[in-house]
Amino acid sequence: MPNNPIILNGKLVSQSVREGLIERINVLKSKGIIPGLTVILVGEDPASQSYVRSKERQSAILGFKSEVIRLDASTTQQELLKKVEDLNQDDSIHGILVQLPLPKHIDDQLIIESINPAKDVDGFHPMSVGRLVLGLDGFVSCTPAGILEIMKYYQIPTEGKHVVIVGRSNIVGKPMANLLIQKRELGNATVTLVHTRTPDMSIHTKQADILIAAAGVPEFITADMVKEGAVVIDVGINRVDDPSSEKGYKLVGDVDFESVAPKSSAITPVPGGVGLMTVAMLLSNTVKSAENSIK
Ligand code: GUN
Repeated sequence: MPNNPIILNGKLVSQSVREGLIERINVLKSKGIIPGLTVILVGEDPASQSYVRSKERQSAILGFKSEVIRLDASTTQQELLKKVEDLNQDDSIHGILVQLPLPKHIDDQLIIESINPAKDVDGFHPMSVGRLVLGLDGFVSCTPAGILEIMKYYQIPTEGKHVVIVGRSNIVGKPMANLLIQKRELGNATVTLVHTRTPDMSIHTKQADILIAAAGVPEFITADMVKEGAVVIDVGINRVDDPSSEKGYKLVGDVDFESVAPKSSAITPVPGGVGLMTVAMLLSNTVKSAENSIK
């Protein structure tokens, strides 16, 4: 029997997150503080440009002091380190985000570690990651944090559930697993993390009460890999050729929505699901950083 799944609407949840920030921003403003976010984009990757525009637009709507520094693809590592250092020293900037991936001649990890951990609104610095693993307060990577907000909004319990995560990236898979195993609300899950070296992945994915797809492969998760009634969270944002569309491409997730949706009890769409949450959580982390600056 096909289900009529709940479509987990990232637009609604991200709106609710932004609304929750307005009062906090007003309190900061009354103390003379405007949240300041700077995004650095190196090069011209089309997907990165699109994400950065979205971050720019959303932070302007909330009245942030926001700036995007667009640098040529030939920018040297030294020049980029200097930019980050200038921002580290600037008290009006509470959040620094360097859009990944960086051009090949720049060491991503070196740049991430050059950001002052107090301004690490991406949650990628080893200090932020370490605090997350230990269950301490800190900046949490935006996409996994956004997924938990979806769970909270739709009252999807994680306690005692078997969550299977597909993908072991530093941005999604690893922090997601660490969040879900914490001994707290929206945690207490049993987590399995599968990846490219997992033999017969579907043995595991079919066990999932909650399946989180962050493989980076278009429509990788098909109906035969999903348990009837599972909650399915699709993190993928893949551009695939579509000559019939004006842009020449369309966005698809890591989940084959058409075949998986009828088997699931709830599912995120692409677009309109997790992607919108990532930006909302970046705004939330920036407000948190601004609040920390006056503690
Ligand atoms: N590239 C893809 N997702 C992200 C993100 O959340 N932050 C940064 N800095 N780069 C990304």
